[in-house]
Amino acid sequence: MADYVKHLTLSDQFFREQGSRGATGELSTILNRVTLAGRLIANNVLRAGLEGRLGKTGGVNVQGEEVKKLDEVSNEIFKEVFDRVPVVAGLASEEMDDPHLFAHTDAKYVLLHDPLDGSGNVDVDGSMGTIFSVHRRLDVAKPVGLADFLRRGSEQVAAGYLLYGPATMFVYTVGGPVHGFTLDRSVGSFFLTHPELRFPQSGGAYSVNEANQAKWTPAVQGMVQAFREGRTQCGARSARYVGALVADFHRTLIQGGVYMYPGEVKKPEGKLRLLFEAAPLAFVAKHAGGLASDGTSEILDVTATKLHQRSPLYIGAAQDVAEVVRLLRG
Ligand code: F6P
Ligand code: MN
Repeated sequence: MADYVKHLTLSDQFFREQGSRGATGELSTILNRVTLAGRLIANNVLRAGLEGRLGKTGGVNVQGEEVKKLDEVSNEIFKEVFDRVPVVAGLASEEMDDPHLFAHTDAKYVLLHDPLDGSGNVDVDGSMGTIFSVHRRLDVAKPVGLADFLRRGSEQVAAGYLLYGPATMFVYTVGGPVHGFTLDRSVGSFFLTHPELRFPQSGGAYSVNEANQAKWTPAVQGMVQAFREGRTQCGARSARYVGALVADFHRTLIQGGVYMYPGEVKKPEGKLRLLFEAAPLAFVAKHAGGLASDGTSEILDVTATKLHQRSPLYIGAAQDVAEVVRLLRG
């Protein structure tokens, strides 16, 4: 018998949480559906190379048929998975201009997600991920609309991610501890391999695309240079950059340090999406004892005004993010 059967499965964990919250099971069902979408996406990603579905821009397969981009396929999977069960009234995605609304209009929650983060990594057999965030609707008596999605990060009721690496992992929080599960593909179950994840207090890496150096403000350049040269109050850091946010964040959560995607002089808002990337990971970071900032405000304190709003992101161990903010202030 495999040793890991001693770990709780995801449904055991939901059962425990539900009992302690006196909840009705809707949130657990949402999380369960997210993991179903994740298993389907993992399967797709795993087979992409064999089935000639590599390439960031889709393209044509060996039969000469047009192939959908993997991130579009992943988005479709989420739509299908949440069409079947009446637990979210709407779905917003990095892949869709506007929210997709379901027929079950009385559902209490909405879901926001980045279906396939780091999808460019598919060509190099690198890690990718899915990021998600759950909000309670403002008023179930009113029709679901954009306002239900344009929220403050601190209002999230659940958030997390799936990491498609050598193993598929599911990491989430419902506002309590952050738990990490590893998928046993052969039986299709997630096992609680990483209970109560917390950022380490020291060590780890700073993680940033240094090729953007010339595009940064002097303040950002100086701050990154301090990390590069080990002149920080939080201590010397190594450097790592996968180029897939979920993978870079997950490493930061396990090994410590800070992930950065700064704004640029010509693009002060940076690249990452507030609602689909920054805020959900900020919610996870906070509940793992970490911090997330846009350089001036905490990410969780920002209220979105646009669905596809971008934000600079500095996220990781609390002492590292505090050091970033201190250095940016000068
Ligand atoms: O979703 C945006 C994204 O692909 C992230 O996963 C990743 O961290 C980032 O872009 C990489 O950006 P760049 O190639 O500019 O470093
Ligand atoms: Mn992304």
